[in-house]
Amino acid sequence: MKLRHLPPVIALIVLGGASSLAASEVIEDAMKNYHKAPKGTDPTCKKVSNNAATPEELADILKSYQAMCAEAPPKGEKAAWVEKCQALIAAVKKIQAKDAAGVSEYKKAVNCKACHSAHKPD
Ligand code: HEC
Repeated sequence: MKLRHLPPVIALIVLGGASSLAASEVIEDAMKNYHKAPKGTDPTCKKVSNNAATPEELADILKSYQAMCAEAPPKGEKAAWVEKCQALIAAVKKIQAKDAAGVSEYKKAVNCKACHSAHKPD
């Protein structure tokens, strides 16, 4: 992909045109900000899985999951979507409360493929 070499505005137009009309910016932002990181750095979700996220990172990712949860998924059942988002939210809250079950619940809830196959448009 040569897209990364284009000025951001043009890349946005190209990507926007190629993606589904139903795409949710809130969900995309959550993915870009917390599930994906620039090469060589760990995304926040990985730090959370390693129980290495700072209180600020936990607060940020929680806010983002709550916003995501309020969105309609671009694909699939809303109820199933809310359930998956709630699992992420509950796990992050447990980690914030230093509940030892939080990290393992988070690792289960943050399963990229399980959620993408149900809710991410092709
Ligand atoms: C709870 C559900 C859920 C989980 C868990 C999830 N994703 Fe996503 N992800 C989505 C949805 C829905 C989209 C599609 C957003 C759209 O197109 O509107 C998406 C899109 C993306 C995108 C594309 C964003 C863009 O710019 O269009 C990336 C990258 C991504 N996810 C990375 C990840 C990674 C990495 C993980 C695992 C660590 C992950 N996601 C876990 C729901 C999830």
